[in-house]
Formats: sequence, C-alpha cells, structure tokens
Amino acid sequence: MKKNIVVIEGDGIGPEVTRQSVRVLKTIADKSGHEFNFTHCLMGACAIDKTGNPLPDETIEACLNSDAVLLGAIGHPKYDNDPSAKIRPEQGLLKLRKSLQLFANIRPVNTYPSLHHLSPLKNKNLEGVDFIIFRELTGGIYFGDKKLSDDGTKASDECTYTQPEIERIADLAFQFAQKPGRRKKLTLIDKANVLETSRLWRKTVKEMASRYPDVNVDYMFVDNAAMQIMLNPKQFDVVLTENMFGDILSDEASVLSGSLGLLPSASVGKATILFEPIHGSYPQAAGKDIANPIGSVLSAAMMLEYLGMNEEAQLVRDAVKWTLQNGFVTKDLESVNFYFTSTIGELICDYISEKIPDSIKKDNIELRKSTII
Ligand code: IPM
Ligand code: MN
Repeated sequence: MKKNIVVIEGDGIGPEVTRQSVRVLKTIADKSGHEFNFTHCLMGACAIDKTGNPLPDETIEACLNSDAVLLGAIGHPKYDNDPSAKIRPEQGLLKLRKSLQLFANIRPVNTYPSLHHLSPLKNKNLEGVDFIIFRELTGGIYFGDKKLSDDGTKASDECTYTQPEIERIADLAFQFAQKPGRRKKLTLIDKANVLETSRLWRKTVKEMASRYPDVNVDYMFVDNAAMQIMLNPKQFDVVLTENMFGDILSDEASVLSGSLGLLPSASVGKATILFEPIHGSYPQAAGKDIANPIGSVLSAAMMLEYLGMNEEAQLVRDAVKWTLQNGFVTKDLESVNFYFTSTIGELICDYISEKIPDSIKKDNIELRKSTII
C-alpha cells in the first residue's frame, strides 16, 4: 500500500517524539513493502512565529489531501501565561479538528504490569484495566460562543450540542462496544442532573440503545466518574462523553498506566484521520531528548490499524511492550536509570527489524548510543 502522511511536529517535545514515530513508520515500510510519503506542515506556536497564523491554509490543504495526519503536540508557555493573547497555538489545533471534521477522539487506556508500581493505585485495581474513551471533539463548550464584556469583568463560554452531533459519535462508540473482545458495555458520562446539553446526551443515547441490544448501557455523572476511574477502573469498557469531560477524564485516566506520556489517540470523522498522543507540548523537557515517545509511537500504531495494516500495528505494539517489559523507559517512568527518547525509538525500530539479540547487555545501551552487542 502507498499512503500519504502529513506530519505536524508542532511545539515543545512534539518534534522529538514525532521523529521517533516517523522512524518507526519508516522501519515498518522497509519491512513490509508499504510506501509512506511524509509531508511536513506547520501548526501551533512555531507556525505563529513563522507565519503569524497558528494554522496556515497550506496545512489544512495538505491534511485534506492526505490519507492520515500524525501530530506531535502544540502549545507554548508564553501564551499560557498571557490570557490576553489574541492569537494562540491552541486555536490552530481546534481549527484543524473542525476543518477535518474530526468529531470523535478515541483514547484507549491500558495498564502494563511492569509499570504498576508507578501508579498511585494498588496492583489489584490495575490488573486487567482496559477501557477506551470516545470523546466528542468538535462541539460543546470548546466551540460555543465566547464573550468578554467591554470592561473585561464578565466572560462566558456557551456549550451547545445538537442531536445529530451526539448520534454520530454514539454510533461509533456502540459499534466499538460490539467488537469481538470487548465486554459490550457502554458508559455515558455526563452531568445530566445539572446541564441541559447532558440531558440531551442522555435522552439521545437512551433512544439509540434499543438499536444495539447486545450492548449494556449505563449512565454516570462526571463527578462520580472521576472518582470511579480511581476507585474501580476495571468497571469501564467503552466510555462515551462530551468534549471537555473527555479532555479532563482522559488525563486523569493516564495515571492508571503510569504516565501521561504513554497514551495515544485517534481522531476520526468524515474523511482524513488524525493521530496524536494525548499529552501536551511539555515545554520544560523540549530539546532534552527525555520525553516519552510511546504515546506518539502507539498513535502511529493506531494509524497503521486505521489504514488497514493490522499486523504491522500489532508489531509496533509488541515492540513497545518489549521495551517497557525490559526496563527501557524514559525519565517520566524511571527518574534515575532512564533511557533517552531517541534510544527508545531506536530500540523499537530494532525490535521491529529483528535486530535485538537474544541476550541484551543493557550496559551497552547508553545515552544516544544505539549499538546493542
Ligand atoms: C488535548 C489537549 C487540547 C484539548 C488542547 C491543547 C487544546 O489538551 O488534545 O487533550 O484540550 O483538546
Ligand atoms: Mn487534554
């Protein structure tokens, strides 16, 4: 297969983690005979610096004409600390999601036995955790009318949802719950005791449930859900929720796996598909080669799956598991004996191309050093 992939490295650690994923995709191409053409485009703070625009038109155009987009991260402290800034990196990401009509953001949450000790939860609560969050991505409070009074003392953000917007993502979540291997359970998370939009979500999902008789549906208020994710995460299978609740709950859920740096995501909609780790631009780590590339590499694995390359996707996931099981982890997971971002990328590629010898001498895998003897 031949695929055109747009790469948006973005800001902060975006470039260094995305480079590892591109390298992994190139290794997959070499091994499998697929061909990937990469086109690099700008978005975020780096795009503002170069063009004055967080999302140049050429980037939208290139994404619309591609088979898939791989995104790093966007954001910069100079905007975070300046609430009055009119042009902001995040506007680029939101506009891209809207332009590509990426209405569903899919965030799987898994745990790894070798990382259980990093989670504040007890082992017994972590074993077997396997759920997936379907976060609505192009509606709700993120995209409603925003107002600030002339004297700057009153602000409002409107939250709006329409039934068709709820139905299209709910259909995807129901269908996912029906897949072989899933527990056929869907939990809608909302705040229907307070919010009108949440009541519309609940009503819509209730009406749809009869079309998916094999799926058990339950409903949970978001405050309770935030607690349940920590108390008993195993109870969740497919989680469906609106834009902002999904943003918050997915960061919370990453604590289960051990680090925010591990979680990938896929955004799907009507045409182009986009893949990005759920973490932000982590400016404090930028350029130091210490960020965790796994969230990005697993996003690339999701991309392969969506492009119909299931075996290749599985191989990437196996390679990631192998690094984690063997203690090849970045600083977020092991603050003393850690490996560099690029070393982890290289090890994943070596695993894919079967260059890992039976017995590895860890001493020889050093900072930025690739040779395994
Ligand atoms: C995410 C991020 C974004 C969001 C920001 C950077 C706008 O936190 O993808 O989760 O809130 O959607
Ligand atoms: Mn977020």
